Amino acid sequence: MANLALLGGDKLIKEDFSSLFPQWPPRDEETAEALKKVYMDGNWSFNSPAEQEFEQAFAGYHGAKYGIFMANGTTTLECALTALGVKAGDEVIVPALTWMATALAASYIGAIPVIVDIEPGTLCMDPEKVRSAITPKTRAIIPVHAYGSTADMEKILEIADARHIPVIEDCAHMHGGFWNGRGVGSWGKVGSFSFQQSKTMASGEGGICITNDPELAEKIYMLKHIGYSRGIRQGQARKAPEGLLCHNYRATAFQAVILSQQLKNLKNLISTYAENAAYLREAIKDIPGVRMQSPGRLSEPQGYYSCHLIFDGEPFKNIPKTVINEACSAEGFPIGNGTHGPVYRAGLFNLDLARNEYRIHEGRSAVCEDMFTRTLGCNHYVLTRRSTVEKLSAVLHKIYADIGELEQYAAAQ
Ligand SMILES: Cc1ncc(COP(=O)(O)O)c(C=O)c1O
Repeated sequence: MANLALLGGDKLIKEDFSSLFPQWPPRDEETAEALKKVYMDGNWSFNSPAEQEFEQAFAGYHGAKYGIFMANGTTTLECALTALGVKAGDEVIVPALTWMATALAASYIGAIPVIVDIEPGTLCMDPEKVRSAITPKTRAIIPVHAYGSTADMEKILEIADARHIPVIEDCAHMHGGFWNGRGVGSWGKVGSFSFQQSKTMASGEGGICITNDPELAEKIYMLKHIGYSRGIRQGQARKAPEGLLCHNYRATAFQAVILSQQLKNLKNLISTYAENAAYLREAIKDIPGVRMQSPGRLSEPQGYYSCHLIFDGEPFKNIPKTVINEACSAEGFPIGNGTHGPVYRAGLFNLDLARNEYRIHEGRSAVCEDMFTRTLGCNHYVLTRRSTVEKLSAVLHKIYADIGELEQYAAAQ
């Protein structure tokens, strides 16, 4: 008799998977009321009070003075690069493991993304690779705080500061995370966040730049608001900002209202995620060959966009991750695809290596390539309840206990 549900055994989790975590994105009456109020006010755009309130609260939470609310977390990166003076032909160092937006933001302004490998533990940019990828053309470095870890800001800043290269933190995955007592996004010159629907704070679409530099804040504001500075209302006379080709990258007051409501609960949410992730890390320690992505060395609390598991080959008999996920799904706990592949393999990343439109440091991101084949990841909201992570641990224990069965199944595929 087979034990694994995939092979005809009893399913471990009887409940419907979607009942194991709260609905996402979160919805409540209080937010609906707040939205109605703004709707009736008619103050929907152009630096509305709701936007200003959110910008200040969100930036302040992370230890920054200024926040510039925008259409999404790609425009934020693009504007941050432009505001820092990055131009066509300059090089921008980005990690191999990220959503394509990090690299494409550089491409949009004609700069060359230089893709460096990641660390096998944190899955974030490897500072030593950054060091060796720097050339006289390097004009910015964009570490990504990926999934459930924070890039090593101490080491990256040490390398960048010594060469006067500005750092933009891509915090699209790390709302509310702190590094060594200070909010993410406030370590680099600019912090960039996304509020796209799947994120830990979500308003459908949206993004924000945070910074402590008033000049950068003003430039980024102009870039997103077709050249208007914060003090000038749309329609008033203004002088075109010198040398800045500006955009309409504005977001709306409705998004700001939703996010202000979510911000009230962010600290709680992140702490709960961090506690449950720590619990899971301990609970699966006795299963050889599976580990969680390491949190950032000085992260406290660590933010979580997702909960990534890394399968280390031999003890799991080198069974493909898709088969491991099939087995988890059959037990009632589908996990998910895991990390993005190396950014240069992403479907829309149709830049041309031969034409020097991007560069892969050392020709290949070996760690990232390898991790892509060995990671599975759950959405962050799976970390909301202790009982849910207990179930995930039980599923992994069950599969490991019957790994021989799964090995035979995988071999027959
Ligand atoms: C690491 C990272 N950076 C940037 C972005 C871009 O954000 P947006 O989708 O809001 O443009 C994302 C979106 O998933 C992301 O994961």
